[in-house]
Amino acid sequence: MENSLPIRRILFAKPVHGAEEKTAVIESLNTGWLGCGEYTLEFENRFLELVKKKHGVLVNSGSSANLSAISALNLPKGSEVITPACTFPTTFNPIIQCGLTPMVCDIDIETLNLDIKSIEKYIGPKTKAVFAPHAFGCPLDTFALRDICNRHNLYLVEDSADTIGTTVNGFFSGKYSDLCTFSFYATHHLTLAGGGGMLVTDSDEIMYNARSLKDWGRADEFQKYWTREGEDFSRRFQHKVDGIHYDSKYTYDRIGYNFKTIELQAAFGLVQLKRLAEFNRIRKRNVDYMMNFLREYSELFQLPKWDSHLEPSLLSLPITLKENIPFERYELLEHLENHGIQIRLLFAGNILRHEAYKNIVYRKADSLKNSDRVMKDSFLIGIHQGIDEDDLDYMCKVFKKFIDTQASSGSSRSSQVQSSFDEKSEISL
Ligand SMILES: Cc1ncc(COP(=O)(O)O)c(C=O)c1O
Repeated sequence: MENSLPIRRILFAKPVHGAEEKTAVIESLNTGWLGCGEYTLEFENRFLELVKKKHGVLVNSGSSANLSAISALNLPKGSEVITPACTFPTTFNPIIQCGLTPMVCDIDIETLNLDIKSIEKYIGPKTKAVFAPHAFGCPLDTFALRDICNRHNLYLVEDSADTIGTTVNGFFSGKYSDLCTFSFYATHHLTLAGGGGMLVTDSDEIMYNARSLKDWGRADEFQKYWTREGEDFSRRFQHKVDGIHYDSKYTYDRIGYNFKTIELQAAFGLVQLKRLAEFNRIRKRNVDYMMNFLREYSELFQLPKWDSHLEPSLLSLPITLKENIPFERYELLEHLENHGIQIRLLFAGNILRHEAYKNIVYRKADSLKNSDRVMKDSFLIGIHQGIDEDDLDYMCKVFKKFIDTQASSGSSRSSQVQSSFDEKSEISL
C-alpha cells in the first residue's frame, strides 16, 4: 500500500466506555452487595421506559434471554416455530432445546430478514410461534408479522439482540411482539461491561416464568432480587413443599438456570444507557457515509433495503456481492483484512449447513436460496460508535483501491451453491 495511506485498524466492533462507567462500577462495589440488587432493578426500569414495555428481566446474555423467552412460552413438545435459516445459533437453538421443531424459512434478499411474504403457506396445525431476529439491526417488519400472527393465533417472539434503536412505525423493538429479547454483548449497541441480555414483555405470566428460569427455578417471585422484605422469616416460611414448611428461597416450580448478571454490570449499563442516543447517532452517520460511498458501485454491491415505516440502527453493515462480477468474495475480504479492516460473515449463513444441525428434526421451506446466497456472497463491516470520520474515509479508500485494481480484471464468479440437504432429517406437515 502506498505511504500516503498508512494502515489503520478498523475493528468490526469496539465497545466505547470510559471514566463514568468505571466510577459507577466502583460505587456499586462499595455498596458491598455484588448480586442482583438495586442497580439491577434500576437498569430494568430505565430500559423498560425506553422500550415502553410492562415487564423486563435482566439476564447474563442475549442467548440466555432467547432460551428464557422460548422456554417461558411453555409450548407443547413438538410444536413448530417459524424461524429464518440465516440466523444466529442461539436464536435457532432454543427451539431445539425446548423440544420444538424449527420450521426453517428463507430470508428476503433485500431486507436480509425472515421473508414475511412467504411464511403463511408454511403455517400448519402444529405451528405455535414465529421467532425472528432483526438481523444485523436491519429492521424486521414486526407490524406486518403481528398481523399474520394474530390471524393464525401465533406468538411473535422478536430477537432484537442486534439493535437497540431500530424502529417500526417509530416504536422501539418490542412494540408488536409478545416477547422481545436484547443483547448487551461487548460488540453491541450498549454493553454491561462485556455481556448481558434482557427479555421484555407485557405478559405477567411470561415474566413470572422468565424470572424463575433466571433464578434457579425458584417459585417465589419475591426472591428475584435481594430486598429486606424478601428476608422476612414468616413470609418465607408461608410456603410448603410436599406439606413441609419450607423456605421460599429454596422452593422450585420448574427446572431453572442461573442466568443472573452481577450488580456491577447494571451499574456499568446505566451509564451506557445514558449514552445510547449518542451511540446511535454515530452509527447512523457511519452507515449513511458507507452506504453513500458503496452505492456508487451498485454494479458490484447490493445493500440492504427497508420500507419507509422502518428505521434501522444497524449493528454492522451487510454487503452482498452482485452476481457475475469479476472477483471472488475471498479476494475482497483478504484485501480488507490485509489493510486492517476487520470483516465478519452474516453469522451462520444458512444454519442448516453446519455440522451441529445435520441430525436435528426440522421442516424447511421449498427454497432457502437467499440464505445460501448470503452465505456465499455477503459480509459485514463495522459501523460502530468507535469509528470516526477518518476511519470512514480510510475504509472508502481501501475499497476503492481494490475496485480500481481488481474490478477490471479476472473472470466472473459462479454463484451456484449445491443443495446437499439430508432429506431424511426433514419431517412433513
Ligand atoms: C441475532 C442474535 N441473537 C442472539 C445473539 C446472542 O447474544 P449474546 O451474545 O448476548 O448471547 C446474537 C449475538 O450476539 C445475535 O446476533
